[in-house]
This record gives sequence, structure tokens and C-alpha cells, in this order.
Amino acid sequence: MKRTSILLGLVCLGLAFVAQAEEPIVIKFSHVVASDTPKGKAAEHFAKVASEKTKGRVKVEVYPNSTLYKDKEEVEALQLGSVQMLAPSLAKFAPLGVKEFEVFDLPYIFDDYEQLHAVTEGPVGKSLLDKLGDKGILGLAYWDNGFKVMSANKPLREVKDFRGQKMRIQSSKVLEAQMKALGASPQVMAFSEVYQALQTGVVDGTENPPSNLYTQKMYEVQKYVTHSNHGYLGYAVIVNKPFWEGLPADIRKALEEAMAESTQYANDIAKQENDDSLAKVKASGKSEIIELTPEQKLAWKKRLVQVHKEMEGRIGKDLIESIYKATGCDCGKL
Ligand code: LMR
Repeated sequence: MKRTSILLGLVCLGLAFVAQAEEPIVIKFSHVVASDTPKGKAAEHFAKVASEKTKGRVKVEVYPNSTLYKDKEEVEALQLGSVQMLAPSLAKFAPLGVKEFEVFDLPYIFDDYEQLHAVTEGPVGKSLLDKLGDKGILGLAYWDNGFKVMSANKPLREVKDFRGQKMRIQSSKVLEAQMKALGASPQVMAFSEVYQALQTGVVDGTENPPSNLYTQKMYEVQKYVTHSNHGYLGYAVIVNKPFWEGLPADIRKALEEAMAESTQYANDIAKQENDDSLAKVKASGKSEIIELTPEQKLAWKKRLVQVHKEMEGRIGKDLIESIYKATGCDCGKL
């Protein structure tokens, strides 16, 4: 009798071990935008491909729309290991100790995706991701979003139209300098709070790529949208380094492959998603889309490229120049 219960006990213990061994590794991937955006779709794509490539041994749980953490908390959560993966915008890396990522926020530093990719897919992009290593973070990839529009309740055509406008920005010193150069008053605010702040008049306007303007319904509470493409907003996918390095080698390899596929996917859809979003905002009739004349564009550009020089001390002259070199930007000469 005694021997039977010992045997039974051992069998149960064995089953428990098997069950434990079969529990999938969970990767919590938190982000702040809607699922129906380039980042939201790429995160879902990664979850699917990661599960396929690891035959279910990894389960990626995607938490969109700040449902798990808002901007600031998500970065802390990653460092503490409460989430394993994020894709914050490149404007949000200073709190991680790598303010050089703000170089991507410099107005007019990229004319198009081709110039952007010359950086994100080249040695400058890699060296920036490498800087995260010291902070307990691994940078896996760059995911595109798009070029920003400006929105407000008054038409923003000339630089002088910005005077006194309270403009919501992400927590980047470059974006702060950009709004100040236009004569506006920059207000740092978490992404999850922007719609309400626009609706209640806490801020007058903001900037974001059309995909965010549309999916957060910001256009419903903004009368005018200037199709300015004055700056870029995109992401770096990052993971908690000890977690990633502690994964079994075969799993890590499969996840790296899944990430490479998802990056391709993200960067393939970003432009179209943003074009579609802008078309939908236009079709809604809720805000008027303003196209700048060539003269107006030049006036914005002349005013805003001054920010490059102003930010040399923060970001590094060499880094800025290495980007000019990679893209062929004539920014320094305007
Ligand atoms: C913002 O805060 O405006 C963006 O960073 C949101 C995002 O992640 O695209």
C-alpha cells in the first residue's frame, strides 16, 4: 500500500515536470498604438511567425494601445523584466540613457524612406542599437512608421501660424527644440493621453504620422492637418537582454528569424498604411488637409534645419554628419 502511494506520487511528480517542460515561453510585447497600424500589425505578425517557427514553444502576447503600460512605464517594465519586448518610438530612448536616437527626430533629416533605410540598415543604425547593450537592453531591429503631419484647430501654413500654439510632443529634446523654433509651446505628454488633451483643449495641436492620427481618431478633434512630412517617426524593437540571452539557442535563433521576417513585413507595409490613413482622414471630411506651396515648404525647412546645429551638443556633431553622409542630405547647407 505504502509502495503504491510512493509510486503514484512519483508518477504525478513526473507528469508535473512534463507539463512544466511543455509550458510555452511567454514573451509579453507591450506597445502604445492601435493594432491596426504598422507597428500593431508587425507585432501581431511577429507573434504568429514566432509561434510557427518555434512550434508553439514560444507564445508572444501582444498588448496594444497602452493596455498594459503607457510610454514611461513600459520602458521601466522592460528593465525590470515585467515585459520582455517593446518597440518604442526612436524619440523615447533618452530615458534609457541613449539620447543619440533623437537624431531621427531632427526635422527634414530624411526626405524619404530610401534615405531613412540608408541609416537604419547601415552601420550608423547598427552602432546606435549597440549602445543599448550597456543598459541591459538589446536592440533587435528598426521598424518603420512614417513621416509626420502637423495638426491643429487653425491652419498651419506659415511658420508664424505656430506662434503660441500648445503642441503635444513625445519626450524628445529635439522635438522640443523643433516646436520652439516654430514659435510654438511644446507639451510633453504620453501617447495615450493625446486624444483627450486635444478634445478638451489642454493642447491645441500635435504631430504624428497619419496612421496614428487616424487610428487614435485625433483627426476628429483637429480642424486642420498640414501634410508637411517635416520629420520621421519610427521604432526600435528592444528586448530585455538577460531574458533574451538566457533563451535556449535554438529558440533564440528561431526568434531572430521571426524578427527578420517581421521587420521586412513592417517596412513593406508602413508607407501604404500611412497613405491609406491620410486618404481616410481626407475622406472623413472632419479635418481639412493642407498641402504646402513650395515657398511655404522652403520657409518651414529653412527655419527647422537650424535645429540640427542647435542639437549638436546633445546628439553629437559627428553622428549628425554621418547621417548626412549616409543620406546625401544637404541639410547643413540650407
Ligand atoms: C507618440 O507618442 O506619438 C508615438 O511614439 C506613438 C507611437 O508609438 O507611434
